Amino acid sequence: MTRLKLAILISGRGSNMEALLKAAASDPEFPAEPVLVLSNKPDAHGLKIAEAMGVAAVAIDHRTFGKDREAFEFHVDATLRGSGVEVIALAGFMRVLTPWFVKRWEGRMINIHPSLLPKYKGLDTHQRAIDAGDTEAGCSVHWVSAGVDEGEIIAQASVPILPGDTSDALAARTLPAEHKLYPEALKIACKTITEKLAHG
Ligand code: GAR
Repeated sequence: MTRLKLAILISGRGSNMEALLKAAASDPEFPAEPVLVLSNKPDAHGLKIAEAMGVAAVAIDHRTFGKDREAFEFHVDATLRGSGVEVIALAGFMRVLTPWFVKRWEGRMINIHPSLLPKYKGLDTHQRAIDAGDTEAGCSVHWVSAGVDEGEIIAQASVPILPGDTSDALAARTLPAEHKLYPEALKIACKTITEKLAHG
């Protein structure tokens, strides 16, 4: 079976990244092979986890490039292509990507977001769901398109919002659902990419 070469982009803790690495390591049929973990923050804890799991981990510090987003992304893109990457999973990667980068990886880049999209794009998703009086929250994996958190949804999972919930409590309840959802959604994405490749 062909496994697509996978890069995971992170900015911090890296628990979703770890879930993807574990899924790939434990399932011989998993359709993606992690070849690179890349962080825009050199001190991201996830880099240490990746290294400990034997996956190449690099930091490209966005601050080095000042306000020049494309220069930062040019380096990211060159690094990804240098590793032969075929599919990208954004996992808590907290940089908004330019249309240039999005276009370059169109149909090959997915993201996990902690809300039931199209609700609560952007930040503070859990607090906003609580403030709205919602009874359920959740997470979504979607294709990355030009608009932030706007691409076509691949898969979603929901969790209940309980009386008296805080943002932290809801985030803690949602995270295990993310860890379960992301590997499954990545499988679906890989299937789509592989089918497209087969049909030219
Ligand atoms: C996750 O909850 C992820 O859904 C969220 O950041 C967290 C990263 O945690 N992503 C976003 O908010 C993107 N808009 P992790 O580093 O432990 O995976």
